[in-house]
Amino acid sequence: MLKLDYNNMMYESLGAQGITQNDIDNLLPKIDTATATMTIKLEEGKMDWRNLPFNQEDIVKDILAYVEEMKTEIDAFVVLGIGGSALGPMAVQQAINHPYYNELSKEDRKGFPKLYVVDNVDPERLVYLFNILDMKKTLFNVISKSGSTSETMSQFMIIKERLEKQLGKNAKNHIVCTTDKEKGNLITIAKNEGYKTFIIPSGVGGRFSELSPVGLLPAAFCGIDIQALLDGAAEMEKICREKTFKNNSAYMYAVLHYIGMHRGKNISVMMPYADSLKYISDWYAQLWAESLGKKYDIHGKVVNVGQTPVKALGATDQHSQVQLYTEGPFDKIIVLMGVEEYRETITIPKIYGDMPSLGFLGGVTHNQLIQTEQVATEYALTVAGKMNMTITLPHVNPKTLGFLLHFFEIATAFAGELMEIDAFDQPGVEEGKNATYALFGRPGYEEKKKELDTRTPKEEKYII
Ligand code: PA5
Repeated sequence: MLKLDYNNMMYESLGAQGITQNDIDNLLPKIDTATATMTIKLEEGKMDWRNLPFNQEDIVKDILAYVEEMKTEIDAFVVLGIGGSALGPMAVQQAINHPYYNELSKEDRKGFPKLYVVDNVDPERLVYLFNILDMKKTLFNVISKSGSTSETMSQFMIIKERLEKQLGKNAKNHIVCTTDKEKGNLITIAKNEGYKTFIIPSGVGGRFSELSPVGLLPAAFCGIDIQALLDGAAEMEKICREKTFKNNSAYMYAVLHYIGMHRGKNISVMMPYADSLKYISDWYAQLWAESLGKKYDIHGKVVNVGQTPVKALGATDQHSQVQLYTEGPFDKIIVLMGVEEYRETITIPKIYGDMPSLGFLGGVTHNQLIQTEQVATEYALTVAGKMNMTITLPHVNPKTLGFLLHFFEIATAFAGELMEIDAFDQPGVEEGKNATYALFGRPGYEEKKKELDTRTPKEEKYII
């Protein structure tokens, strides 16, 4: 399903910059502890997202039945969510469907609606979306685990009012909620107002929720085989439960990054060589950053750890960022992500044979070109002594994608265990959310407001 080639992280390829087998072996006691903790946490219900590939039979049926019932009624499916409630739906749709999916006819979309994801509160974006939507033919999916995120709930409030003005009592059939079973405002509203609702299981946090109804419902509305997504994830999960560290690519990915971090590699670059995987980098960036960027470890010690994820795209960013990756500081691990078989082939015509600098391209496919460029970038990074590794998918399809998503989730959780931090909280994000509430004078946030009022005032002399 997925190959992890980490040759170019190692001493044999990189020389002094590389990791030796001894470096990995020396970590084995820590790796064993982290492996045991992964099992204990799963058994104690602290990693319920790992059960999602196995325990959603009824949910899948419910989702598919609902999609069948609604798809002929609507032309657009709009996700209202942010962070973990938006990045996954975007990444999966982009990976599996036609890159210009929304521009296809409904027939070519096999009767499924267009997908829009509104993951910001930029006023222009929402107004412009209203300009193109026919509200009578649109279904809005409000996704919020906490049920209280200002961005998502404010979008919902605007849309609910518009729908009710236009459609009266029928408005409620144009809203479907995905939220926690009991926590937060959204579930209360959904129950009171009778919205169709899908539940995010309680032990499944935002950025680990793509394989719950958060991601499954939008994917199913785009005609994506959600059972295959789950089946792919199940294969990765089985590896975790049954195989040793040496045969677990996700654990190895985490270990290599952990060693890299201890050698000052504070940046994690994700560079797929496939447009279909471009948004996987966005999804990964949130997963890696929000899970591993922490001030305290689990013992309460200030550690200020984490790697900054950087999104790149091959071959595009060879003409933008790769100069820095090869010749800049030794502060990155670059993950190249390749595909063995693309879904299409296109051949460059054999013209301009008399011009050597163009003629060599004649008869070559774009498939060969992009794959060769990937190999060439890998080479340039390696001779420059820059840590890099390659993830290869045989093809991009729902099953391999499910495997890939779960691979990164497991790798992130395992990295968290190695780093001895809590990969599942996000106090830094909460701080920003709370400050917003305080600035708006939300009841209950008076102390935070006082704190904000005493912050150092900005000096005019530093504003030019
Ligand atoms: O991973 C996370 O927990 C966050 O990114 C959340 O997904 C994001 O803040 C949105 O939260 P919610 O789904 O509660 O609206």
